[in-house]
Amino acid sequence: MPKPIFVLNGPNLNLLGVRQPAIYGAETLADVRRRTEARARTLALDVDFRQTNSEGELVDWIQEAREKACGIILNAGAYTHTSVAILDALNAAEKPVIELHLSNVFRREAFRHHSYVSPAAHGVICGFGAKGYELAIEALADIVTSSQAGKA
Ligand code: DQA
Repeated sequence: MPKPIFVLNGPNLNLLGVRQPAIYGAETLADVRRRTEARARTLALDVDFRQTNSEGELVDWIQEAREKACGIILNAGAYTHTSVAILDALNAAEKPVIELHLSNVFRREAFRHHSYVSPAAHGVICGFGAKGYELAIEALADIVTSSQAGKA
């Protein structure tokens, strides 16, 4: 089995299920975690699923991914729109990155249309709610598998 996929969640995502359910859905973060792990299992992949409200902790985890992960799925929450530190960490990690958002940020306020994560991301999934986590696992599985095939 390859190294785990780090699925990293930023600020306020611990409130999923109670926070603006019309935008973010009724599922809790624990529900999303179960969905993500189940999809990964079907692809014989391991997931390390985490959430923090702290920007520095996200940076630490992205640095950790350099050694310990095969790729990163990142829902950086509001730090998506503000954090050069997260962009720098992603560039330093040299791992495939999928940027993820539950909501379609492009249908929302203009300040959500810019992302500091996107320049470091292989691709972006947004607007599919919790299902997006499963889609991100599938997308990253393809990238990881084809990069390993390239090494064979
Ligand atoms: C979010 C979108 C961000 O704009 C917002 O700040 C979040 C969640 C999403 O998953 O839709 O906290 O990343």
